[in-house]
Amino acid sequence: MHQTIDPAILYWGSAVIIISTRNPDGTTNLAPMSSTWWLGQRCMLGLAAESQTTFNLRRTKQCVLNLPSDTMISKVNALAKMTGRQDMSPFKTAAGYRYVKDKFKVVQLTPMSSEMVQPSRILESPVQMEAEVAAVNEMNRDEEGREGSFLGLEVKVLRIPAEENILQVGEPNKVNADRWRPLMHVFQHLYGLSARLQPSRLAEIDEEKYR
Ligand SMILES: Cc1cc2nc3c(=O)[nH]c(=O)nc-3n(C[C@H](O)[C@H](O)[C@H](O)COP(=O)(O)O)c2cc1C
Repeated sequence: MHQTIDPAILYWGSAVIIISTRNPDGTTNLAPMSSTWWLGQRCMLGLAAESQTTFNLRRTKQCVLNLPSDTMISKVNALAKMTGRQDMSPFKTAAGYRYVKDKFKVVQLTPMSSEMVQPSRILESPVQMEAEVAAVNEMNRDEEGREGSFLGLEVKVLRIPAEENILQVGEPNKVNADRWRPLMHVFQHLYGLSARLQPSRLAEIDEEKYR
């Protein structure tokens, strides 16, 4: 039996990233997010218009998409309910958010210079994607009073430093899917992945054909 439901938010499950952006004073802001998906060398980011990250992205057009492994769950939890924006919304105030200027320091993550963009990357993240904004789409335009409250940002990945131990031996451009353990966000809960179920038929197509 199916029942028609109306969840407040559709968090069916996606990987968490920690996004770095550059503040107006030149420091780097960090924010956990999970409304992301990948296609080719592009990533779509779903972000609330009000966050400091969104302000920074619209102004500078640059970011680093730091992927936490499932072992970094305590860092993601530590970053939750923080904002780099001093004048936060009444919603965030009521929800117990606090303003934190230096999130690297407060959650004990290590900043590392990027090569192709200005915001710092996170040393502890096994994958750090330097990226630039290619397009901005204002969402909810059909909903009165909520127009533009969320943005869908298309970013172009420019460079991908990745830890050697998640790569296939002898194949420097291939990630070993058994070794990469993303942290998943499902209806406000954090999960790891189970072991591989069975071979995928799509894998009969050489990955390089998608380049
Ligand atoms: C696991 C997790 C996933 C989140 N996913 C998103 C998301 O996809 N989009 C978004 O706008 N905020 C998301 N948030 C909330 C932001 O982290 C939050 O708005 C934060 O205050 C943004 O920081 P900033 O204001 O410094 O940019 C998520 C938070 C957590 C902990």
